[in-house]
Amino acid sequence: MVSSKDQDVMFSIVIFLAFGLCFVDSQFPRVCTSEASFRTKTCCPLWKDKSPCGSLSGRGKCIAWAASTAKKIPQYNDDRLDWPRHYYENTCECFGNYSGFNCGDCKFGYHGEKCDRKKINIRREIRELSALEQRRFFSYLALAKTTKSQDFVVLSTGDRHHRETYRFVDASLYDVFVWMHYYSMKPIMINSTFIPEKNFAHQGPVFPGWHRLNLLFLERQIQLMTRDEDFTIPYYDWRSDKNCSICTDELLGTNDEQGVINPYSYFSFWRAICSGFNFPDEYCPLADSEYKMERVHRKPGTTPYAPNMPTFQDVENTLKLKNFDTPPYNETSLYSFRNALEGFLSPDGATLKRSMHNLVHIYIGGTMSQIPISSNDPFFLLHHSFVDKIFESWIVRYNGSPMTYPENNEIGQGPNDCATPFFPCYKNKDFISRSEELGYQFSTYAGDM
Ligand SMILES: *[C@@H]1O[C@H](CO)[C@@H](O)[C@H](O)[C@H]1NC(C)=O
Ligand SMILES: *[C@@H]1O[C@H](CO)[C@@H](O)[C@H](O)[C@H]1NC(C)=O
Ligand SMILES: *[C@@H]1O[C@H](CO)[C@@H](O)[C@H](O)[C@H]1NC(C)=O
Ligand SMILES: *[C@@H]1O[C@H](CO)[C@@H](O)[C@H](O)[C@H]1NC(C)=O
Repeated sequence: MVSSKDQDVMFSIVIFLAFGLCFVDSQFPRVCTSEASFRTKTCCPLWKDKSPCGSLSGRGKCIAWAASTAKKIPQYNDDRLDWPRHYYENTCECFGNYSGFNCGDCKFGYHGEKCDRKKINIRREIRELSALEQRRFFSYLALAKTTKSQDFVVLSTGDRHHRETYRFVDASLYDVFVWMHYYSMKPIMINSTFIPEKNFAHQGPVFPGWHRLNLLFLERQIQLMTRDEDFTIPYYDWRSDKNCSICTDELLGTNDEQGVINPYSYFSFWRAICSGFNFPDEYCPLADSEYKMERVHRKPGTTPYAPNMPTFQDVENTLKLKNFDTPPYNETSLYSFRNALEGFLSPDGATLKRSMHNLVHIYIGGTMSQIPISSNDPFFLLHHSFVDKIFESWIVRYNGSPMTYPENNEIGQGPNDCATPFFPCYKNKDFISRSEELGYQFSTYAGDM
């Protein structure tokens, strides 16, 4: 049980931080949103040794994209095409175990000043954590939600057609993470026309890897913020769960019939960044008007067309699909592990039907069912951590057979495209690999898969 004393302490911390900080920003390195950076199209910040990308210390170097596969992006086209070239022709490329927008950080799984310490953490089911560990997890999230990101800002505009309206604003660490999902999901604009249902993180082969990277980003940011290298995002094993058994006040919180989360639980005060509107021609227009954001809410088990969670058998059947993805590499792909996992295809591989990942979003309802802003509910973390566990089981099961990321025609989803909107460039094809290469593994839970 969470005592009322703890609640009081938590609320005071939150109120203090709310007054002490301004909220809202985007996944743009703050130092690269200066007028000079945009004019020179360069995002090669100085590291501690005062050289761009830490080049004097051998951490990385500033590379020109123009020299490689230059495609010209006209103004009336989407700013995310051929990421990150609309904004920057020059970005850091980091050597060895170094990473980060200025090569000041380490690749996932590496730690220490010289990034020479490899460490493999275990992600566990939330109910496997002790009460103390659960509370530490919720405290870290509260801190991430209320601590302004020093490194990143977020993009905001009510009119995507006009670049002069684009603003870069502050956001908390957690909200930067939420914004990345939102930004990647906006319809793609070509010649001032929006292509509905096309985006950079879903409905194609990029889905499992993009979300893996998104969680790794937050996990790493929380490790840096708390100096707790052991921190991992837990998962929620939802197989055949009856009615969100983790929606208790000790864990994710209970809710009333309107979906309001119980004030005596952890997330009742959370507000959803980029909520309120969802027009194609905007990017999070009220990113800095906290009072206009709606509250995170949830209505598990009340949506008639999502009557149950996916079952043990559904997961087992999904894992039997041995093709990572199949033509045409969108939400109509049949016998595609990716499309069944994402949930446009039933686990038998043969019929297009809501299932798996999509079904859980809809089953939980409220903020979780508004997919672009769904990561405002920390439920998203636990859900996607489990989706990643299923992805990992698939990788392990078919190890040996070719696990190549397919060539495809979905915009931004090619094997060598940079995952949008991450810095530095992470190639889409690089995430179909064992999770221990990225510094984590999953615990064994409930008989497993
Ligand atoms: C990366 O880290 C490993 C230790 O896990 C170390 O052996 C290796 O030398 C490092 N690589 C570079 C290029 O520093
Ligand atoms: C966009 O419009 C220009 C000029 O009308 C045209 O040349 C170009 O092919 C169009 N591009 C796309 C992707 O439709
Ligand atoms: C889940 O619980 C809610 C709230 O108690 C209830 O309204 C709903 O009918 C339940 N759904 C299922 C599928 O059991
Ligand atoms: C999926 O791809 C096929 C083949 O290119 C196309 O006909 C279909 O419209 C696409 N579906 C969606 C929803 O994009």
